[in-house]
Amino acid sequence: MTPKGRVFSGARPTGRQHLGNYLGAIQNYVALQDEYECIYCIVDLHALTTLESTEDLRQNSVEMALDWLAAGIRPEETIMFIQSQVPEVTELHTILSMVTPLGKLTDLPTFKEKVRQQPHNVNYGLVGYPVLMTADIVLYKANLVPVGVDQAPHLEFAREVVRSFNYRFKTNVLIEPEMISTEYPKVIGIDGVQKMSKSLNNHIELAATPAETRQKVMQMVTDPQRKRRSDPGRPEVCNVFSFHKVFSTPQQVQEIDRECRIAGIGCVDCKKILVENLNRHLEPFRHRRAELSRDPQFVLDVLQNGKERAALIARQTMAEVRDAVGLP
Ligand code: TRP
Repeated sequence: MTPKGRVFSGARPTGRQHLGNYLGAIQNYVALQDEYECIYCIVDLHALTTLESTEDLRQNSVEMALDWLAAGIRPEETIMFIQSQVPEVTELHTILSMVTPLGKLTDLPTFKEKVRQQPHNVNYGLVGYPVLMTADIVLYKANLVPVGVDQAPHLEFAREVVRSFNYRFKTNVLIEPEMISTEYPKVIGIDGVQKMSKSLNNHIELAATPAETRQKVMQMVTDPQRKRRSDPGRPEVCNVFSFHKVFSTPQQVQEIDRECRIAGIGCVDCKKILVENLNRHLEPFRHRRAELSRDPQFVLDVLQNGKERAALIARQTMAEVRDAVGLP
């Protein structure tokens, strides 16, 4: 197979992955391997911009890597590595910062959002976050970047930085990346309101046991207007129903849709069906993850190998960049 291009994506090490990570990113990462040369990076340096404590950082990277592998990332082809292990990215970040107007960074909606979220910690790294992300992508000469719509401004920013760099130094060593947009519906957490996320503790881990999964699903908020079993429900506003659409058969979805509206089925029974389907769907993943965890050295070896392959590309790019800039 001749790959159609090189894909790069990064995700912050948040530890064990949840259904939102899976449906929003991991599933797509796995599929892209069939057509592209893929590089998937655990961006621990980016994580430092918001972390209060780094105690779990290493462990979270390893847990995330295990989930990626169990979900179907193939380390023989795909490069999977930890960002900070190839330090060339920080050098490129510094060089790219010289062709980046400060105002562009502070105008980004993602930056403003962080300032709102952590007014007590508006650090320099936070401002440079998109520059570091640009460095990730161009260091590995990726032409395609799969990210959600929330990251679209960062990708547009990266393209501008590449153009500025190439223009300023009269070169074409940096490749302008394109976005592969992933139009997945936002996965809502068990609170039924906010995006599923570990920090909000409204998530369901992929590696949870069937019993834990059941417990989480039974806690899920359904149609808030349906207070009694005899009230008719509205599947279109029910978060449990949106999961049925992903994990249940078309016939089940149809039946639940019909029966919910006439109060033929209650929320408890509806959730029980989801629990069963979800656990069945996740069983191969969990089995594989348990197998992979039996040899703790395996994932470390994968990350080490990924680091070595990534470093080869990084060193090559940096030699070209230094040459273009005129650094000795
Ligand atoms: N900024 C991305 C996020 O917050 C993570 C990221 C870092 C990334 N470097 C990247 C994504 C390079 C794609 C490509 O989700």
